[in-house]
Amino acid sequence: MAADIPITPQAVAGESAAEAMARYMRPGTLSLAALPPLSLYVHLPWCLKKCPYCDFNSHEQKEKGGVPEARYLDALRCDLEAALPFVWGRRVHSIFIGGGTPSLFSPQSIDQLITDVRARLPLEPACEITLEANPGTFERERFRGYRAAGVTRLSVGVQSFDDAKLEALGRVHDAAQARAALDEARVAFDTFNLDLMYALPGQTLAELESDLQQALAFAPPHLSIYHLTIEPNTLFAKHPPPLPDDDLASDMLDLIAERTAATGLERYEVSAFARPGHRCVHNLNYWQFGDYLGIGAGAHSKLSFPHRVVRQIRYRDPAKYMAQALSGAAIAQDEEVARDQLPFEFMLNALRLKEGFELARFTERTGLPLTVLQDALATAEARGLIERDLRWVRPTARGLDFLSDLQSLFLK
Ligand SMILES: C[S@@+](CC[C@H](N)C(=O)[O-])C[C@H]1O[C@@H](n2cnc3c(N)ncnc32)[C@H](O)[C@@H]1O
Ligand code: SF4
Repeated sequence: MAADIPITPQAVAGESAAEAMARYMRPGTLSLAALPPLSLYVHLPWCLKKCPYCDFNSHEQKEKGGVPEARYLDALRCDLEAALPFVWGRRVHSIFIGGGTPSLFSPQSIDQLITDVRARLPLEPACEITLEANPGTFERERFRGYRAAGVTRLSVGVQSFDDAKLEALGRVHDAAQARAALDEARVAFDTFNLDLMYALPGQTLAELESDLQQALAFAPPHLSIYHLTIEPNTLFAKHPPPLPDDDLASDMLDLIAERTAATGLERYEVSAFARPGHRCVHNLNYWQFGDYLGIGAGAHSKLSFPHRVVRQIRYRDPAKYMAQALSGAAIAQDEEVARDQLPFEFMLNALRLKEGFELARFTERTGLPLTVLQDALATAEARGLIERDLRWVRPTARGLDFLSDLQSLFLK
């Protein structure tokens, strides 16, 4: 029970929350006129099995007794309590319960988690609450239980509807389970997201077309389609599978653009497609350089104060995280984002959005004058990577295709 757990002040290298706040509130060279919207991210770090392409902080559930749900919930509660001074008085616009595989947690645990958050943080009335689900954990009653607990949006990790591809990806589910999960997501939730990946091992254009057709048949209000990336320190990095070449991957992206547009899904971010009114509030806040408090193992936070922007990272290993959070010291690292890194950090996010950003938003979110962008914006425009007027900056189609080149113009 929470009441039994002694809560000591949050400490970074022996520092109390009050000391950290004093440090965050000191005068500085930035001047933020207003604090951005705040979101909450909650990381649940266990999976049934580690996928060979995955570099998320996810750990195979090895314990005989299963995931230590109760202890982890206690740790999350302590983590949140200790972090409250950093977000005092601010309302939460969205919550994202991600992983790992959050759907390994029982509906009762998710209910407890959402209740714990509601008791400590004021939520906006229509607060979006997303939970990531793996079809390998699908049971009808379980999904309904998440809805009853207050989850408004389910994000279903399908990846492909081809059993051979799912096996090559090391997924724990088959296509039939993915379809069952989507059928339920459709009826039980206000809105849902379907995650697909493309440029899969050995994938042909016709195979992708079949995946797209099957995904679109569910009329998803939101679709995320990611190019499979071989991340360092994964099994795929050690034993690379045969992947489509760049030309084929580019044809695949064209096909995705064509088929999604034909069914009324708008590409509003590099990998995200939505029907009107179904954009992901939580992810939009990241891309608009909003603030987020991240609790749970390895979670990242970005928090603004009147004179600085701070990043925090929680302990990554679940056991270490739980021990640390329960003693009131879940933060492994915190650092102030350097003034000259802010333009690049802002652009890493904002230029992923098809609509780009409002210039006034740059000043509001970074506390920097627009003059710091002048040279890079002029170069980007001359290279055909952005369009702009007096109020807005938008990446062009070419800018989205060469996004990392565009973003790197803002590196100092
Ligand atoms: C953190 S995962 C959460 C969902 C859940 N764990 C699952 O895999 O079903 C979020 C999404 O990121 C995508 N993803 C994960 N690793 C990736 C990689 N190496 N390349 C591209 N997309 C990836 C997958 O589409 C996945 O559904
Ligand atoms: S289920 Fe998702 S988070 Fe877990 S290992 Fe696979 S891709 Fe990573």
